[in-house]
Amino acid sequence: MGELLDRANRFVTENKNKIDTKNRLHFHYMAPIGWINDPNGLSFFKGKYHLFYQYYPYQNIWGPMYWGHAESRDGIAWDTQPIALSPDYNYDRNGCFSGSAIEKDGRLYLFYTGNIEGDNPEQNQNIAWTDDGENYTKYESNPVISTPPPEGSKDFRDPKVERIGDKYYMFIGTKKGDVAKLAIYISTDLLEWQYSGIAFEDNDGTYDMWECPDLFQLDSSFVLITSPMKKGENILPVYYLGDFDKKIGRYIADTPKILDYGTDFYAPQTFCDDKGRRLMIAWMNIWQTKDPLENDQWRGAMTVTRELTLDHDQLVQYPVSDIENYRYDEHAYHNVVLNKQEKFTEQLTEAADLLLKINLRHVEAKVLTFGIKSSADGSERTTLQIDLEKKWLFGSRKDNFQGEKTDFDGPLNLINDELEVRMLIDTNSLEIFVNRGRTVFTTRIYNKKTSQNFTIEVDEETAVFEEIKWWKMRSVID
Ligand code: FRU
Repeated sequence: MGELLDRANRFVTENKNKIDTKNRLHFHYMAPIGWINDPNGLSFFKGKYHLFYQYYPYQNIWGPMYWGHAESRDGIAWDTQPIALSPDYNYDRNGCFSGSAIEKDGRLYLFYTGNIEGDNPEQNQNIAWTDDGENYTKYESNPVISTPPPEGSKDFRDPKVERIGDKYYMFIGTKKGDVAKLAIYISTDLLEWQYSGIAFEDNDGTYDMWECPDLFQLDSSFVLITSPMKKGENILPVYYLGDFDKKIGRYIADTPKILDYGTDFYAPQTFCDDKGRRLMIAWMNIWQTKDPLENDQWRGAMTVTRELTLDHDQLVQYPVSDIENYRYDEHAYHNVVLNKQEKFTEQLTEAADLLLKINLRHVEAKVLTFGIKSSADGSERTTLQIDLEKKWLFGSRKDNFQGEKTDFDGPLNLINDELEVRMLIDTNSLEIFVNRGRTVFTTRIYNKKTSQNFTIEVDEETAVFEEIKWWKMRSVID
């Protein structure tokens, strides 16, 4: 123990300054070098936010997983720390897979899946802890759950631990045949875990595996978030709202809803901070995408930290307000009137926060078209069309310079006559929050450095934009 970790940390220190930085983002966490996927172990511990993540430092492709680590004072500006876990025991020899963290009595406990490949692949559950956020000890009794339950199978991973009432519950994604299942284990001390059956399963046959399940209480509802798979392919993460019987560990909910309608959002995880906020970060990529940055020595980024709230039967997600501290140089326009064939054009910077407020009573147009990271002649851009008749947003990447050209779309979820669209725009990412996060779209967009225009066009009639505001964003990733 220790040797693999030291070697990986040395590799990062010696090589991180050699990477090509031209495609780096400004306010979305990326590892200093190498590959990242899921956020893990999200927590608030000893006055700081902690973001661990699936990490392979040596190449920009997935490999035997380590747990990378970053810390932050506000959940937005991240400082990379030394790697926390390496796959150095027999039980985790092919990877320390995803998991979560929780604090008890001044100690941060990490729960993760040990991955074993080969003729008899195995996924088991393990514990590590830290008292200072710097030194990590793996529990000598690992694995604490060495085999999947009879109702599950060898796909048995991503433990999420939550305290609900006076007990700890560990939720683990698994499957049997073609049915996704949520296994549940209960503990009072975080070290000994009792199997308590299947808390929930997908009886509709829509999903055949739930990766990274996360079940937690929000107001009086229990939310279950999963990153589902079907026939070995990942699909858009969903959430359920339901009830949880904490005595027996059973969850009841009906139909899932899509969490984020964009193209690049996977493995979200939530946690609570010292202010009692339920926060969420996701991997801002998906497995199936071939991103065009394959020649860079780093790959993968996280979404910004979003706060979750409930509005009736709707989960709402919005960037934590702390992000506004990194805005500078405000540009604001009020009551901008646009007629057919007129175009509003503004040159933004590579990283920007943009806010549009529209009172629909003052809009006769049926379709509002936005161009993001548009070239001067408009031939290169990401196009958003807000269709006010269909009450739907359509996003198109077909005119992106490179990368996937697939489209995305989702409901506007309008409230009254107000339409507010906030866009967090970074080097090659776009997060769109409609009506303060009632619908969210996260997507990666790849255009030339010279394409930084933001444009608005209306179709036939007039539209009045009450407010068009944008700020430059500082670079906050070390
Ligand atoms: C989700 C996932 C997890 C697994 C990890 C491996 O993206 O497949 O289920 O623990 O990534 O890196």
